[in-house]
Amino acid sequence: MKKFLDIISEEMKKAFEAAGYDPELGKVTLSNRPDLCEFQCNGAMAGAKQYHKAPIMIANEVADKLQDSTVFSEVTAAPPGFLNLKVRENFITAYMNEMEQSDKFGLVMPDKPQKIIIDYGGPNVAKPLHVGHLRSAIIGESIKRICRYAGHDVIGDIHLGDWGLQMGLIITELKQRQPELVYFDDNYTGEYPAEAPFTISELEEIYPTASAKSKEDEAYKAAAMEATYKLQNGARGYRALWDHIIAVSVSDLKKNYANLNVEFDLWKGESDVHDIIPGMVEKMKRDGFAYESEGAWVVDVKEETDTKEIPPCMILKSDGASLYNTTDLATIQDRMETYAPDKLIYLTDKRQDLYFEQVFRCARKTGLVKDETELVHIGFGTMNGKDGKPFKTREGGVMRLENLIREINEEMSRKIHENAETKGYQIDTKEAEETARIVGLAAIKYGDLSNQASKDYIFDMDRFTSFEGDTGPYILYTIVRIKSILAKYAEQGGKLTDIVIGEAANASEKALMLELSQFHAMMEGAFEEIAPHKICAYIYDLANAFNKFYHETKILTETDDGKKAGWIALLKLTKEVLETCIELLGFSAPERM
Ligand code: ARG
Repeated sequence: MKKFLDIISEEMKKAFEAAGYDPELGKVTLSNRPDLCEFQCNGAMAGAKQYHKAPIMIANEVADKLQDSTVFSEVTAAPPGFLNLKVRENFITAYMNEMEQSDKFGLVMPDKPQKIIIDYGGPNVAKPLHVGHLRSAIIGESIKRICRYAGHDVIGDIHLGDWGLQMGLIITELKQRQPELVYFDDNYTGEYPAEAPFTISELEEIYPTASAKSKEDEAYKAAAMEATYKLQNGARGYRALWDHIIAVSVSDLKKNYANLNVEFDLWKGESDVHDIIPGMVEKMKRDGFAYESEGAWVVDVKEETDTKEIPPCMILKSDGASLYNTTDLATIQDRMETYAPDKLIYLTDKRQDLYFEQVFRCARKTGLVKDETELVHIGFGTMNGKDGKPFKTREGGVMRLENLIREINEEMSRKIHENAETKGYQIDTKEAEETARIVGLAAIKYGDLSNQASKDYIFDMDRFTSFEGDTGPYILYTIVRIKSILAKYAEQGGKLTDIVIGEAANASEKALMLELSQFHAMMEGAFEEIAPHKICAYIYDLANAFNKFYHETKILTETDDGKKAGWIALLKLTKEVLETCIELLGFSAPERM
């Protein structure tokens, strides 16, 4: 379907042309003065100079041509030359019914879908997930869903941190605790046990312990570096231990991400490109891009137009070890060879902005990607506490993700019981808990996604869990309200299929339709600008428009059956649009709350 604004602009363009003016002047926009009109066109003012005519005269002539328009019910020329517009009820109604009947509400699909890889999540194996990983997962998942809905071919890759010093640290600590384990016996040639010598909770305790020790004890750190080197260079026992670490950690991560409604298509990690690094580095040297600098190997990435200093991209350290950089470059090479993507999108904290600038430039310069391959880094801001500092536990420690989720769920559960009490219905603990989980996730995700990603935001438990205002629970509450009306209508014997939306009977009903008609433009914007917050802003407006209509209209007690069925059809469309949008944000609505 064509976008609503485009259709009405076309009508306006024809009128400009018919009045003898450049049709391009007929661009219609949303109204700045909703009290006066629904849409407006400022073309008469823009054309005044070109045609040496007072804008109001042009506006009057154009308005004249629209007297019998099938699109506009009202076209008023207002000084100094605005065209104030209202659309016909039957016109917007037809658009609504077409939306209802079309796949994806009539969103236009691309002629040629792009292949897009999204690199998000990025947890580090064996380290517990904390709130810092939350944003990457939440925003990345939403972007993945938006790109897919827009008709593209999308792959989400978790890009595990599974190859660095943390692995050597864990191995070193294990060796100290259980030196008798067969993994540490260099002469062992048999099969290694299938069972891991630790559980996930032990693993999560081992890493911080080892990390703390290495900061105080030089010899310990050296041992960890040595262990990392041995692991990366194929020591059998270390590889077998590493396999256990990965398996235990990944199964725990899968559980955690599933709780967040986050799903990855690929569970690749830094280790997967280990073997292609030497060849890649060799080629960069051979092609003359990489040169030696103080023992290390680097590629210059600064450009003439830079206004700030962009340091060279280091690809090998002086001890020959590879870096975070090197694995990212090799991963780009691997992704290009395996999937030939048109676009790569990375999600990390914005403190990695410069880092990705270097990596992307290096990848382009050394020919790892094609000229037309888009490389995008979305650097997000920090989630802060109410004190404006990075979010911490009450004791001041790093907040673990599961604790944060638990806190939200407890608060949600309290609110749900409270609401059931005021509404006078029974809710058992089990249902309340399940609902709290669904609504709690919406509270967290909406609280995050409603901000532009690059901005820091304050994690405000009271605000995020409120059933009122610009919050996830408010959106869900609206959906639940519609579901309940539809259910009651069905109980009264009403049919929910084959019903058509009727012409708006009042201003709030029309306002709801106009809001729905903006869906396509909003979705295009969310995809093109990679901006989930646009969906949040839209559904907040849509929920408000619906609630206004709901409060002004007695739907279920309406005696005119045709009218009632028309409203029910409009509610159904509103619900479907809201549900589609929250699905793209990565959460869902309960049956009641
Ligand atoms: N593991 C990294 C970290 O915790 C994030 C990985 C982001 N992705 C990437 N391709 N570098 O900082």
